[in-house]
Amino acid sequence: MTDDLLALKTETDAALAAAADLRAWDAVRVGVLGRNGKLTALLKELGKTPPEQRRERGAALNRLKDTLTEAIEARRAALEEAALEARLTTERLDPTLPPRPRPIGLIHPISRTMEEIAALFGAMGFEIADGPDVESDWYNFGALNIPAHHPARDDHDTFYLPPRGNGPPPVLRTQTSPVQIRAMLERPLPFRIIAIGRTYRADHDATHSPMFHQCEGLALDRDITLGHLKGCLIDFLRAFFGIADLPVRFRSSYFPFTEPSMEVDIGWDRKSGELGKGSDWLEILGSGMVHPRVLANAGVDPREWQGFAFGMGVERIAMLKHGIPDLRPFFESDIRWLRHYGFNPLAPVMLHESAG
Ligand code: DAH
Repeated sequence: MTDDLLALKTETDAALAAAADLRAWDAVRVGVLGRNGKLTALLKELGKTPPEQRRERGAALNRLKDTLTEAIEARRAALEEAALEARLTTERLDPTLPPRPRPIGLIHPISRTMEEIAALFGAMGFEIADGPDVESDWYNFGALNIPAHHPARDDHDTFYLPPRGNGPPPVLRTQTSPVQIRAMLERPLPFRIIAIGRTYRADHDATHSPMFHQCEGLALDRDITLGHLKGCLIDFLRAFFGIADLPVRFRSSYFPFTEPSMEVDIGWDRKSGELGKGSDWLEILGSGMVHPRVLANAGVDPREWQGFAFGMGVERIAMLKHGIPDLRPFFESDIRWLRHYGFNPLAPVMLHESAG
């Protein structure tokens, strides 16, 4: 190796040894092998070398190029390994650190309330029944003893659908009561069912939404009495609101599908809104003994079977239980409202929530 080549090798070795990181290393590499690198320049000058020396000089340059390339690559491998080693020692995994909290989704208050209703009536032997949102006029009204032109129809602000054939048009069910008829036609007697689901009325303000939810109940047997109805609903209301001595009042009323019919009130303080306190009454649900004509309409012999039924608004009892003043945000999907009123999905529904 001639002196100039030896000098380049020595110089490159020293520069590589001094390169502390991959950036410095790359500068050395470019300075030697790059387009304007020192070795590249020597190779370019080969043409000017006298022909008799060219062969030997070319061979020496090529050997040097191999040597330097090898040294440069070796240095890169060493630097990369050192960098990895450094990361492994500094970025130590600490399995004892607590996990970062991850935002979790919450259960919508309507879903939560429906789960609570199902758990409480489930514990009293009720099964879940259901029916379609689009109902026939007969199931939603006629079979429930609400014939055409009955004044009770006017209360319902019904959404009618385009007629199918000659009969009355189908409706979006205005109540869950048609599930009573379906259950009687489908199930062997005796039975106890609840039906929780969507209902529809053309009504929209702070306490009414065109779509809302109801829970219907029906218990049929040979010897069901008003006593069973009262006991069942008192137990439910006290457990649901978590107030062991919640005052409950049964007030005579009228529904076409029950006889006698009763509206159920709970005690509250109208001023503070507190349930179970004060001396005011708040209407909370409708109920009664199933009208014999309704039983007969669904193929159940009223001389052998009788029972009680009830219906309540899911949003209404959810609003009362949790002090939610307005119905509309239930269906607006505002994440701030949902975070405020949503329920932890990991906390199970309890049958008795902080009673007392
Ligand atoms: N369907 C009634 C309504 O929407 C509620 C109701 C009242 C249901 C009395 C019943 C009942 O089963 O017995 O207003």
